[in-house]
Amino acid sequence: MKLEGILKTLLLAVVSILLFASAVFAASTGPAAIDIKKGILFVTFGSSMPQGEAAIIAVRDAVIAAYPDIEVRTAYTSRIIMRKIAREQGRSIDEPAIALAKMAYEGFTDVAVLSTHIIPGAEYDDLAAVVRAFRMMSEYAPKPGFRKITLSLPLLSEQESIERVAEVMANTYEKEIEDGAVVLVGHGTHHFADAAYSALQMALLRQSPNFYVGVVEGLLEYDDVLSRLKSSSVKKIYLAPAMLVAGDHTLNDIAGDEEDSWKSMLEDEGYEVTPILTGWGQNKGIRDIILDKLSEIWDELDR
Ligand code: CO
Repeated sequence: MKLEGILKTLLLAVVSILLFASAVFAASTGPAAIDIKKGILFVTFGSSMPQGEAAIIAVRDAVIAAYPDIEVRTAYTSRIIMRKIAREQGRSIDEPAIALAKMAYEGFTDVAVLSTHIIPGAEYDDLAAVVRAFRMMSEYAPKPGFRKITLSLPLLSEQESIERVAEVMANTYEKEIEDGAVVLVGHGTHHFADAAYSALQMALLRQSPNFYVGVVEGLLEYDDVLSRLKSSSVKKIYLAPAMLVAGDHTLNDIAGDEEDSWKSMLEDEGYEVTPILTGWGQNKGIRDIILDKLSEIWDELDR
């Protein structure tokens, strides 16, 4: 009985020493011993048109220039566009989950996921869910997995960045806004993030009463924009996309020659319409906002 007690005590002591030793070992060789490999995943809706891709490439090039020693991978969130590119151009582009799985497999430990979406809508929600899943998996199965994974917010998602976008627009269209109305047409969505466009409209009104925001599908419809234009004295309209790329919607629904495009409908109302066919990705001011959002989540990797 006594001997058994001594043995038990001894065993307990040995186990304690082993546990203590392994804890000390883990503390000295643990997290610090991991080879840190940082990367950036550049995520965009995508575009299958050369003009649209030019805007995407402009943003990606700005990211590469700002982080010259870091590997920048690209993922698209639109499956329709990815399929179209695969079919028509034979190129394959990864969706975010695949791109992240590849990065984890290749030993990246820290990944900053840069969303270049305009609003925190359905596409962004899906991306955020993927990032959350990788974060959780990495907690329970660290190998292969990430030490840290961060995600940026879209352009029109916080008051400060909405105000910055409005300032960039005021600088970009300094001459046009004196000469007539600048109508910015966004995509719009059934998602409640559609409200971001109304917020942008309010921020733009602080810059000039000649700024108008409309969307292709959402609350700020063409008819609303038209009735506001009619109650003003403007004759000239500059029509520009409020989208990262000037792709299909810009070239067809907004500035196309078909009779139901915004351009044709406004011309029928007697306005002189000048389409501006560049996406926000081609605007340095907008790119700078995106780079600032990246810089925030890049710093967060070490926090
Ligand atoms: Co669309």
